[in-house]
Amino acid sequence: MVTVNTFKENKGKKKMTMITAYDYLTAKNIDEAGIDAILVGDSLGMVMLGYPDTLAVTMEDMIHHGKAVVRGVKNTFVVVDMPFMSYQASKEEAIRNAGRLMKETGCQAVKIEGAYIDEIKAITRAGIPVVGHLGLTPQSVNSMGGYKVQAKQKESAIKLINDCIALQEAGCFAITLECVPRRIAEYITKILHISTIGIGASNECDCQVLVWQDMTGYSNNEPAKFVKKFANLHDEEVKAFSEYKREVEAMEYPSKEHTYMISDDVYNEVMKEVEGK
Ligand code: KIV
Repeated sequence: MVTVNTFKENKGKKKMTMITAYDYLTAKNIDEAGIDAILVGDSLGMVMLGYPDTLAVTMEDMIHHGKAVVRGVKNTFVVVDMPFMSYQASKEEAIRNAGRLMKETGCQAVKIEGAYIDEIKAITRAGIPVVGHLGLTPQSVNSMGGYKVQAKQKESAIKLINDCIALQEAGCFAITLECVPRRIAEYITKILHISTIGIGASNECDCQVLVWQDMTGYSNNEPAKFVKKFANLHDEEVKAFSEYKREVEAMEYPSKEHTYMISDDVYNEVMKEVEGK
């Protein structure tokens, strides 16, 4: 079973893997593949609910999907995202909401976007493991002016490095680095004793994470530069739906092998009864 200790033990020794999931069956398949961790990301707002960004996602959404994922895993470590405005207002609210995610879903950790040092300190003090998230933080898309690579300039790179150190000191056991240049991710990974989880932050990070619909090609949206499609589930699924339609219209499906039968004797007796013959 993967625990927070696995992240510590593997640091600098073995690369780890994380994939997002939002439902029971995907979680079960990810667990079966031996992936170390699942992130129930608030990206579910876009890939499951069709919102334009993650801002409308609620605590109830995260709990609903988090519960389904936890039911699907045996060994994989489950992290649930804290949604927009569930931790920013006060330490008390942050602890209450982090506690709800842990208690109601059964996950092993929560993830928080941004350098919310006091809130993270309060949550980790309550015994809740926290994954930080810096670089591109999608909940701040409006203040960032879009989804862009971060820490490319001197000031922003120095700020990112200092924020990572502050998150480590606040008690995070790992930090997600999203859309960060390789040399900055490499430096951060080297100076921290906790794990870095990269998404668009190079192979220098201790762990990689991708959204499952992106990495399996289930979504046919133009992917970001860092996404590799390891399959083409979108085309497979559309092909299956079209073939189903064709076969139904041609009366090829359901064929005999997909059909339940009744014996002639029983059928004749039923007919005698209902038709009065
Ligand atoms: O919500 C999410 O899926 C994430 C990943 C992109 C890291 O935060």
